[in-house]
Amino acid sequence: MEFVTVRQPVRSYVIRAGRLTTAQRRALDSLWPRFGLDLGEQPVDWNRVFGRRAPRFVEVGFGNGEALLTLAEAHPERDYVGIDVHPPGVGRLLAGLALKGLENVRLFRANAVEVFGKCFVDESLDMVYVWFPDPWPKKRHQKRRLIQRDFVSLVAQKLVPGGRLHLATDWEDYADQMLRIGDAVEGLLNSAGQGCFLQGRGGRPVTHFERRGERLGHAVWDLIFEKPEKAVCRSTEFQRESLKGLAQG
Ligand SMILES: C[S@@+](CC[C@H](N)C(=O)[O-])C[C@H]1O[C@@H](n2cnc3c(N)ncnc32)[C@H](O)[C@@H]1O
Repeated sequence: MEFVTVRQPVRSYVIRAGRLTTAQRRALDSLWPRFGLDLGEQPVDWNRVFGRRAPRFVEVGFGNGEALLTLAEAHPERDYVGIDVHPPGVGRLLAGLALKGLENVRLFRANAVEVFGKCFVDESLDMVYVWFPDPWPKKRHQKRRLIQRDFVSLVAQKLVPGGRLHLATDWEDYADQMLRIGDAVEGLLNSAGQGCFLQGRGGRPVTHFERRGERLGHAVWDLIFEKPEKAVCRSTEFQRESLKGLAQG
């Protein structure tokens, strides 16, 4: 008999058999059809899904959904797409969305790498947040980290010109990895300057995971990478003539 090994791509998460509260279970059963999306339609027609054309923001790994709920309530003029795989967090956020009657949020319960690869067309996202992705601190697990060059390049491809990617972590060597990758990916500019972190949080809310780290005395590093607006350049001939003019005084 011949055995064929199918290699699973390395994932940045492990779905643990976490306990769902009754409220989370009920929210998953009854509210998923209203707020949830599956990987079926590729790419998704977002204007149809939201029934309008609005700036599109994505949060990858929203955890318990606290930050996404705060932002979506504060910005009804934006549409938000949340992506996570952790059922209790998805259930909790669904219940919050229904409670607040928000219509500007849709959720994927799926691997963000797959969602970015399949569901967004290029140059269609205004902002992508990845706040406190799982740090995978052990050396042998670091290949599981979500922020890798390929993923950041994929995100950059999906950003509109002028769009931004906001990363945050409380794990120092992951912060350095984020900085190195973001600075190296073609088509992104570090808003704090190459090799630099932001001072402060870059306007984001404090997250649940961050608060936990703060209690343990963790520092926090934030980065915002921007895809520059397309430049409108004069012809090379024009530039040469201008330089000549300047040189002649
Ligand atoms: C450490 S938690 C941080 C949650 C939240 N951002 C916060 O700061 O409180 C990381 C989250 O990312 C999710 N996650 C990890 N890898 C993911 C992936 N590839 N696709 C979607 N979600 C992912 C996990 O399920 C988890 O909820």
